[in-house]
Amino acid sequence: MNELSLHHLIDDLAAKGWAQRHLILPQALTRELAAECRKRAHRGELSAAGVGRGSAQQLQEGIRGDHIQWLEPGQSEASDRYLELMDELRLALNRALFLGLEDFECHFALYAPGTFYLRHLDRFRDDDRRTVSAVFYLNEDWQAEQGGALRLYPADGSEHEVLPQAGTLALFLSADMPHEVLPATRERLSLTGWFRRRGNEVW
Ligand code: OGA
Ligand code: MN
Repeated sequence: MNELSLHHLIDDLAAKGWAQRHLILPQALTRELAAECRKRAHRGELSAAGVGRGSAQQLQEGIRGDHIQWLEPGQSEASDRYLELMDELRLALNRALFLGLEDFECHFALYAPGTFYLRHLDRFRDDDRRTVSAVFYLNEDWQAEQGGALRLYPADGSEHEVLPQAGTLALFLSADMPHEVLPATRERLSLTGWFRRRGNEVW
């Protein structure tokens, strides 16, 4: 990853609680990841996403309508490369902001036309480990009128929208930044992930 872009990204995150950067990852990799997400969807490997964790997890189409598949090491060259790059970003975040991020979890997400994810926070009551959310978009030639923006609600009362354009990476603080995914008129693909701190396990 380009050092200068990385600095800007991390500075913005520290200053505003969110950051976005276009073309920070190789374009060829972005295309491979998009193709892979489509392939996984075509094979029927994506499943309806739930809300909450573990046994508290529920399918709630009224809240979120995406289909997902978690990344595991060894699934493909492209997904392994993405995990490597996110690990570089994790270390850079730790060096710059002393966040103590320990790992990164991530899934492909596909929103069919008309589906959405209502306003929410990414830190669950029963999982306080998620610290920085990272969404990487995979959609070539996205137009604003197609909808599908990620809308962020910073604490100062402003609103910010990120278009899910291929090559855009968005970061925000998982516990503090309410956000939602607006419905789109076309299929919307992304890799959505979370840098996590060591947790306080509940026994
Ligand atoms: C999520 C989420 C944002 C996006 O999956 O929790 O908020 O832009 N995704 O896809
Ligand atoms: Mn979210």
